[in-house]
Amino acid sequence: MNYTTMIFSPTGGTEKAVESLTSKWGQKIHTVDLTNAAIDFSQFAFQAEDLVVIAVPSYGGRVPHLAAERIQKVRGNGANAVLVCIYGNRAYEDTLVELEDAAKAAGFRITAAVAAIAEHSIVRRFAAGRPDAEDQAILASYGQTILDRLESGTEAGTIPGNRPYKKAGGSGMTPQTGDACTQCGLCAKQCPAGAIDKNDAKTVDPTECISCMRCVAICPQHAKFLDAARLAGISAMLEKVCTERKTCELY
Ligand SMILES: Cc1cc2nc3c(=O)[nH]c(=O)nc-3n(C[C@H](O)[C@H](O)[C@H](O)COP(=O)(O)O)c2cc1C
Repeated sequence: MNYTTMIFSPTGGTEKAVESLTSKWGQKIHTVDLTNAAIDFSQFAFQAEDLVVIAVPSYGGRVPHLAAERIQKVRGNGANAVLVCIYGNRAYEDTLVELEDAAKAAGFRITAAVAAIAEHSIVRRFAAGRPDAEDQAILASYGQTILDRLESGTEAGTIPGNRPYKKAGGSGMTPQTGDACTQCGLCAKQCPAGAIDKNDAKTVDPTECISCMRCVAICPQHAKFLDAARLAGISAMLEKVCTERKTCELY
């Protein structure tokens, strides 16, 4: 039996939550980076006894489309999947059911589904510092429950969400590039969508950009940023729906 995590985590929050979930597993865990545009995901084929954590952030209550496409290239072959959706304390809506459908289409059986909260990657003051110690303890206990389910052959309960899914809304928040850009190329190399020109990091293709905020988060010069007025507008809009603390869920 092999343990694997397949994670789409442009700014690290999803990855941090998965670390807590798997913290008590005491097993060597293989990792597959779903943000890596250079990987041919059809090379991954699992076996029925394997356990695979498939983790994505919620974007507008949906699975980021690049992640869904990459997951469906993998061959599950009846392996056990733990679905993880991480969101920025607003709502995750249809993300988990969409992830369930993508994982089943790829040939996985669903052992568990988890929703948890991490810092909002667009407006970082929401859910700042999460997953925090309380989240980490809950996620670690879920990890144990998942191992127990694996032992007993129990599958996930009903996963919340609607089909058809809510309409995917492009955020349209393509980062801008300031004069501090040194053309180091890090953002172009690490862009999950391949949207940044490798020969000119200041050129971002808005039709490819998924507004994941990786370039904003990793630029050593802080040269990538969002339009301040739009960011302020989004921040004000999220104020009402993001402030009250939401908690982790296991299905
Ligand atoms: C384009 C985009 C859309 C998002 N949509 C939602 C959302 O609908 N609900 C929510 O609670 N958080 C939303 N978030 C916040 C992320 O789900 C959250 O910050 C997550 O932790 C990001 O994962 P990462 O740190 O692994 O990149 C969104 C973030 C981005 C970049």
